[in-house]
This record gives sequence, structure tokens and C-alpha cells, in this order.
Amino acid sequence: MRKDDGMTATGLTDGFGRKIDYLRLSLTDRCNFRCVYCMAEDVTFLPRSGILSLDEMDRLCSVFIDLGVRRLRLTGGEPLVRRNALGLIRDLSRHLDRGALDEITLTTNGVLLERHADALAACGVRRVNVSLDTLDPGTFRAITRRGDVRSVIAGIEAARAAGLAVKINAVVMRGVNEDHLEALMLFAHGRGMDLTLIETMPIGEVDGDRSQFYLPLSEVRARLSRRYHLNDLPDRLAGPARYLRVAETGGRVGFVTPMSHGFCQSCNRVRLTATGQLALCVGRDLFIDLKTPLRSSESNGPVRDAIVAALLQKPRGHDFAVDQLKAPTVTHAMRMTGG
Ligand code: 5AD
Ligand code: SF4
Repeated sequence: MRKDDGMTATGLTDGFGRKIDYLRLSLTDRCNFRCVYCMAEDVTFLPRSGILSLDEMDRLCSVFIDLGVRRLRLTGGEPLVRRNALGLIRDLSRHLDRGALDEITLTTNGVLLERHADALAACGVRRVNVSLDTLDPGTFRAITRRGDVRSVIAGIEAARAAGLAVKINAVVMRGVNEDHLEALMLFAHGRGMDLTLIETMPIGEVDGDRSQFYLPLSEVRARLSRRYHLNDLPDRLAGPARYLRVAETGGRVGFVTPMSHGFCQSCNRVRLTATGQLALCVGRDLFIDLKTPLRSSESNGPVRDAIVAALLQKPRGHDFAVDQLKAPTVTHAMRMTGG
């Protein structure tokens, strides 16, 4: 195999030599929440007819795994609202058993974890990321427009009881949850969980002006550093977050700063929407259709070729700018690409 055709003996690389071994698959764009930074209250979801079947999703993931993807994350919308999501995960776990895949993880809002945590653990899932922006019930309801924070906390406890490692993801919003982050950190670290803070990104149409929520994480860090000793961890764990350790709690806080600091040089991932579009970068409207080549043939050859060719089109990075928070230039929604 030639080195410059997007495929090496050890896996997929993009046009900038980045190794792509991480696939995020959105099982559905639907969600039982309506977070204000993610979607409009009266959002129209994709017609079910356009969504890949679970068999098609399995086939696509398997092609990516054959091409060298080692880590798979299932996202949404909310992945656990997809009917029989557990069946897909159980089927995909065969790749864990045969050593072709290192892990299957999930990004979830946590509500359905209470019901599914044991089954997830039985399918070989070892880690989940739970989105939780505040512990305060009123603020939580205002952000999610319908969620009950107690159900998320119950989901987190169920996941931990099932032996899953849990990481908390919080989108930081000025004037909304900026005063709640310390409590969230103590909650997470008290249970051995990492907390990752995320800057609000201008992705997808929402009601109102998202720019009012933007708070650079440098401010959050400065504020935490007045009360805690923060030690930068030298190496990035896989992915775009920078981590530090809090001396007083022993726990880690991750910072995902797409707006204030580029992290694209270490990008190791691609995303697949529930309709079979390969999203080459979360910060751009750049999609390659894999549904057509997938359906064009019973053989995986055409879709495999399409993936290898697509990777060479992966851009160097996103071009978010803070002024886009007012009117997003990226019109696809996070609920399509799964964050
Ligand atoms: N900016 C930043 N994070 C977002 N998420 C959803 N929409 C946005 C946005 N516009 C987060 C969710 C979840 C993850 C999948 O992405 O809160 O933690
Ligand atoms: Fe649902 Fe996550 Fe979007 Fe909130 S951020 S509406 S939980 S997909």
C-alpha cells in the first residue's frame, strides 16, 4: 500500500499525516432534552426514513474498524433513545472480543443510564461520558428545557455501580452555570470522575443569541486557581482536551477550548451522522456521503474506497470565531455530529 493514498499498513491517515483511529457515530439526532446551546425548542428532527438502519451502522463501523479505527464512540442526539441501541452495541462488541477494537464508549445525557447501565457493562462498554452542566435543579431545567437533574445523577450512580468509568462533560455558559462549576468539580472528584469543561461553540441553529453565553475557559481556570492548586498534566490524553490536576481533590479537570485555542493539530477523529454522512471536521459543513456507496453494493469495496478518499479531504482545522456565536456559519447541529 502506498503511504500517500490515505491508507497505511497500520491504519488510516489524513492528508496532514494525522492518524485517524477514532470514530464517533451518531445513532440518532433525536434527544429527550432540548439544551439551549444545542437546539431550538421546536426543532425538527430528521425523518426516520433517512436514518441508517442499525445493520447499516454495524456494517459501516466494521469497515472503519477494518481500516484501523481502534476506538468507537456512540453519540446522538441522545444515543440511548435509539430503539435497540443496546443490540447494536452488543453486536459491535464482537470487535472487542477479537481484539480489533480497543473500546466502545458512549456520550449520553445520562437519563437512560439507570435503565441500561448493567446491559452496557455486559456488552463490554467500560467508560461513558455524561453531559451535566450544573447540579442545580432549576438551572438544569432551564438549560435542558425539560430535564430533571436527579434522573441524571441516578444514571451516573447506576453507571458507577455497574463498574463503568464516568467522565462528566459540562458546557460552560457565562451567567448561567459559571458559578456552579466548583460544585460540579467537587461532585465529580468526590466520586473519582474527571470533569471536562467545554466552551460554547457556534454549531447549529438555536433560539436566541448564543454569544452571550461565551466564556473563555481561561477565566474559569483563573477563578479556580484562586482556591485550588492546579497542576498542568504534561501530556494530552487522547483527544483535544488539556488536563490539569487539582491538588486538593486529586482529580482532573479537562479544558476543551475550540474557541480560544486551536487543538486541531492533534485531531484523531472523524464523525458519522445517523444518515451516513461522514463529517470530516466538527467545525465545518463538510460532509461526505457514505450511504450511497454503502447501499450501492453488497460488497464493502465502494464504501471503503469512499472513506479512504474522504480522509484526504479532512481539513487542517476549524475556523470558529467568537463573532460566529451570534450567527453560526456551521449550520449542521451538534445533535447530528454528536459533539
Ligand atoms: N457547544 C459546545 N458543546 C456543545 N454540546 C452540544 N452543543 C454544543 C455547543 N454548541 C455538547 C453537549 C455534550 C457534547 C456531546 O457536546 O453538552 O456534552
Ligand atoms: Fe440532547 Fe446533548 Fe443536545 Fe442536550 S446537548 S439537547 S442532551 S444532544
